[in-house]
Order: sequence, then structure tokens, then C-alpha cells
Amino acid sequence: MAYQEQMRALEALLFAAGDPLPFEDLALLLDVGKDEAIALAEQLMRRYQRDPLSGLTVREIEGAVCLATKSSASEVLENFFGKIRGQKLTDAAYETLAVIAYNAPVTRAEIETVRGVNSDSVVARLIERGLVREAGALEVPGRPVLLDVTDQFLLDFGLKSTRDLPAMDLLMYDTVMKLSEHMPHEASGSPVRKPLVIAIDGPSGAGKSTVARLLSEHLGILSLDTGAMYRALGYKALRLGISPSDEEAVRAMLAETVMEIDLSDRVQKTRVDGEDMEPFIRTPEASMAASDISVLPVCRDYCVRIQRELGKKQALILEGRDIGSYVFPDAPVKFFVTASAQTRAERRLKDLEKAGVETSLEEVIRDIEERDRQDSSRKLAPAVKAPDAVEIDTSDMTLREVIDTMLDVIRKKELDQPGWRSGEGRE
Ligand code: DC
Repeated sequence: MAYQEQMRALEALLFAAGDPLPFEDLALLLDVGKDEAIALAEQLMRRYQRDPLSGLTVREIEGAVCLATKSSASEVLENFFGKIRGQKLTDAAYETLAVIAYNAPVTRAEIETVRGVNSDSVVARLIERGLVREAGALEVPGRPVLLDVTDQFLLDFGLKSTRDLPAMDLLMYDTVMKLSEHMPHEASGSPVRKPLVIAIDGPSGAGKSTVARLLSEHLGILSLDTGAMYRALGYKALRLGISPSDEEAVRAMLAETVMEIDLSDRVQKTRVDGEDMEPFIRTPEASMAASDISVLPVCRDYCVRIQRELGKKQALILEGRDIGSYVFPDAPVKFFVTASAQTRAERRLKDLEKAGVETSLEEVIRDIEERDRQDSSRKLAPAVKAPDAVEIDTSDMTLREVIDTMLDVIRKKELDQPGWRSGEGRE
């Protein structure tokens, strides 16, 4: 097919299809490769955009394209279709839409859990407006319906995919960013923007990593697993045949060590001398080496310096043992997450089994108790609850309950201390 013919065919196909046409199908229909189909669609879009006499444009959604109307034509279209689609959404509808878009597929019960109110009628209205659709059912008793956003939602909000949603729940993000923006002023009177740090401390296996990850996704704030740093250094020592408790040998090792933390992609890479250590540091040996090496002041200084630098640069959730008590004692939000040794050992065993590490529950309990004792009895920066940290015992809680509790604390922090936010009424 010649170029002109391809463009004509493309326009006709998109017009006739109405719904978004996947690039793969388009490529087959036009008898071109997928990349060429994408390039043709982009050319058509540019043509429409350049043409002030056209009310059309091309939109890409989830690997598909469709013809759409330009926003400049919305008024005349509203007059024709009536105002229903153009009516402003209520706050409740926006909130529900956000919950669905960020968590899809979700059940009505899950939406209710997140919003704290029955959302059935709001969901029904969103379905009516074509912004939300039923997307199957959950394979559990009662088979609750799963909900997802529609292509129409993506079109209306100018998104190619839900992956393009800003990496945050805007509402929550605003809330927490305000916490940091309105930190008290220094004595000099000059406003000092302290970093927003959320500290999550607690013993091993209490669920800190998982809640930190979920909270990070929910708030759109990066999260740092500080334990991985001690693990990586402990593992390097083991690899070099150095005892992780030998202070002088570790000092010499650290003088030759370059640690970089890469949080891009939201998946932490803890690089030591250029190598990502994640594949090696989750074994019981690496855990014990981490606990041993973390006792040494030289090692702690090394890691804390990096943690403080990262926390100054950006809003950050840090999970560890001493974040609220030592690394960032003035963190605005602090949690101390615990669980019984038995519960923690059961969780750790599952993780180890998944990672293919052979061990027994008894061994894991012993390991956890030994590490608890060592981590909390060391002289420097022991693993203790900061006096102003909120303790959450996760033994009998679901993950969602833990996250909800944390989000409540963050919201309440704002409500309870408006003076704290604005800096008024403080010394
Ligand atoms: O959280 P984790 O199990 O990955 O931590 C590994 C070890 O590192 C743990 O035994 C205690 C130590 N650690 C520490 O001393 N301070 C931190 N902030 C984080 C971990």
C-alpha cells in the first residue's frame, strides 16, 4: 500500500471502528509492522492537530488508537448530547474514581474500606457515565464483582494508560506535602523546609517492608529499606572472609567501599561497588552478618550518612530500626511496627521458602530472637520505639488495616495540630 493509501485506510478504519483499535490489529489491517502502524497514527494525529478546520484528533490508549473529538469542540457536542457527560463530578465521585484507578481491579467492599463509606451509589453513577466498568469477579465465595476504569476515563482524563496516572494519591500526597511545607520556622525566623520523612521502625519480620512499599505506592513517596544497606555491607564482609564484628577490618573494608542506592523504578537497588546486592542478602547468614555489622559505629555512620542525605533530597519513607529515634529524630510522622516473634517467624519462613532458602520455623524463631536481642541491646542507636512513634502491632491485622491505620495517623496529624502545620502558636 502506498503512503497516501495507508493514511486514507487508517482514517477510515479508525472512523468505522469507533472503539480504540489495538496497534497489532491496525498493523495487520494495513499490512505494515507495528512500529509503522504507530508512526502512521502519530502522523494522522499531527495532521489533525495542525488543521484548525478539523474538530478531530487521534488518541492513544493502552496500546490502541481511536479517533476522538478535540476539546475545542466540547461545547457544541454538549449542546448536542446534553450536559450529562459534561457535568462536574462530585468530590465523592472523584475520590471513588481515584481509588478504582489506582487500585484496579477492586471490589466494592475494598472501595468502601478505603473511603470509609458505602460507595455503591457513587460507583453506579460512575458506571452510568461510562467511566467505570465491571471487569470480572473475584474467585472467592460470593464472587464479588471487580471494577476497573474504562477507556472513556482514560480519554476524558487525557491518559494513555492507568500507568500514566501520577504516582500518587493526590489527596494524600497533598496532605503529607503540606506537613513538610508548614514545618516550624527556625529561631532565626527564616523558614526552613525540612524534609518530609516518614519513619517506620520495628523488629525484623513485623511487616515493615511490605507496609513501607504499600504506603509508598499510596502516597507517591519513595521508600528506602535501610536494612538492605546493612545486609549488603554484612554480605560484602562475608564474601571477603572478614568477620562482620571485626571493627578494624570492617573500617578498612568501608574505606574501599562505594555504596549507591538507586530508587528509580521504585524498586530499590542497593549497589556495592557497582553490584546490586539484592540477590544475595536475604539468606539467614546475610541476616546475621547484617545484625553483627550494624552494631559497629563505623558501619552505622557510613549508612546513616547516606540515609540522611537521601532524606534531605526528597520526601522519603525510611524503614529500619533507628530511623525515628536516631537517623531522623524530628521526622514528622513515625511508626513503630511490631508483631509477636511467632507471627514474624511464620512470615519470614514464607519469604525464605519463596526465595528457595531451606530452613525450619524453629531455626527462624531462634534467628529472630537472637537478632532482636542484639539489635535492641546494642549501645549505639538500638532498635527502640521513639517516644513519639505510633506503635502498631500487626500480629492480628490485615495489611489493609495496617495501611489504613497509618493513613489515619497522617490525616489526624494534620487535623489535630493545625498550629503545627502553619507554624502558629509555637515557640
Ligand atoms: O530490616 P532487616 O531485617 O533487613 O535488617 C537487617 C539488619 O540490619 C537487622 O539485624 C538490624 C540492622 N538494621 C539496623 O541496625 N538499623 C537499621 N536502620 C536497619 C537495619
